[in-house]
Amino acid sequence: MNNFTFYSPTKFVFGKETENQVGDMVKEFGGTKILLHFGGKSAEKSGLLGRVRESLKMSNIHFVELGGVQPNPLDDIVYDGIDLCKKNNLDFILAVGGGSVIDSAKAIAMGVCYDGDFWDFYSGKASPKKALPVGTILTIAAAGSEGSGDSVITKKDGMLKRGTGSECIRPRFSILNPALTQTLPAYQTACGITDIMAHVCERYFTNTKNVETTDRLCEAVLLAMINESPKVIANPNDYEARANIMWAGMVAHNNIVGVGRDQDWNSHGIEHELSGLYDCAHGAGLAVIMPAWMKFVMKHDIMRFAQFAVRVWGCKMDFSNPEKTAREGIESFRNFLNSIGMPATLAEVGGNEKDIPILVKKFGLKEGETTGGFVHLTSNDIAEIYKLAL
Ligand code: NZQ
Ligand code: ZN
Repeated sequence: MNNFTFYSPTKFVFGKETENQVGDMVKEFGGTKILLHFGGKSAEKSGLLGRVRESLKMSNIHFVELGGVQPNPLDDIVYDGIDLCKKNNLDFILAVGGGSVIDSAKAIAMGVCYDGDFWDFYSGKASPKKALPVGTILTIAAAGSEGSGDSVITKKDGMLKRGTGSECIRPRFSILNPALTQTLPAYQTACGITDIMAHVCERYFTNTKNVETTDRLCEAVLLAMINESPKVIANPNDYEARANIMWAGMVAHNNIVGVGRDQDWNSHGIEHELSGLYDCAHGAGLAVIMPAWMKFVMKHDIMRFAQFAVRVWGCKMDFSNPEKTAREGIESFRNFLNSIGMPATLAEVGGNEKDIPILVKKFGLKEGETTGGFVHLTSNDIAEIYKLAL
């Protein structure tokens, strides 16, 4: 196992009607004049925003609103948010929504405390050191941004989707009420499920030896997702299944299942070019890319893929042909994703073969450069993975 530091300071408040505590929570973390940040219509329509405004008023928290964050959030609303915070001297950002709203809130939080262009953090020109405090009310179990120190934003100019990470943007608190996710369309629920499982897989496929505890934690989260997911697809109002999935989404990405081991994240990078270019849902893009990536890298460590097949998917180990078992595991994963309504091919998320050179170019590797992880990939390898996803 590798050395590690694990620091996850977010306070989580979980359960029914917990959003009504938001005013007190903002106060507890020092917010007095805040930015209330949200997405499209869903939070207004469900009555959630009304309850949030009420709770903030009851706690004498002054707030300025900025709605309209779209999925795969864009840089332009981040600039608007930074201006609003500076003009109104705001001291806290409350994100009400999914990963897109939370990531936009994190970008604003960093941008307010920085003299340059906030995009510097996403282009790799600068690393974030300071941010306004962020709190969240999560409405979709998916990205894990409610517990992560990451943020992903798309620059409109060139549709470049890029991420950054820093401890300074981990939310101070996150309110998780599974009932809030009951209004999600089945497709969006399934996209979230896929993203959660992908976050575990990016950590599971590692070159680090002797990581039995985190291996088993990863497998437990995946098994829980396999068990609970069909229940919410069949019955969107299944609170208990929603609750298990919501907590899995947090656990999958605050890194508790990934500490002490090298991780991959190439599937995420390869997917981000799809949701950047075609504006498809991140989870849908992952459903197409993850199995293709697995097929491409499998031979690097057949026994790890066979372990995944046996322990997670219940495949029978074929000791005379472990590759057969490994392939069965990948097929089981792909079939599971299809069974919850996820796409299987590039075409289903808007892609085609002739765009592959564009996607590879946007990925941005220079001549001779590789991207690290379980298997180091060249531009040609990335093109092969897109081809396997056709
Ligand atoms: O905008 P509204 O109207 O709220 O609709 C949203 C949006 O259309 C809808 N929705 C959310 N909660 C709902 C609801 N509809 C009905 N009822 C509810 N309760 O769902 C749609 C998708 O929302 P979004 O926030 O985009 O989903 P998600 O949480 O999957 O976030 C995706 C973004 O997170 C990034 C992705 O790349 C993508 O940009 N990621 C962020 C990560 C992080 N910060 O740690 C890690 C991830 O790997 C991921 O890359
Ligand atoms: Zn993800």
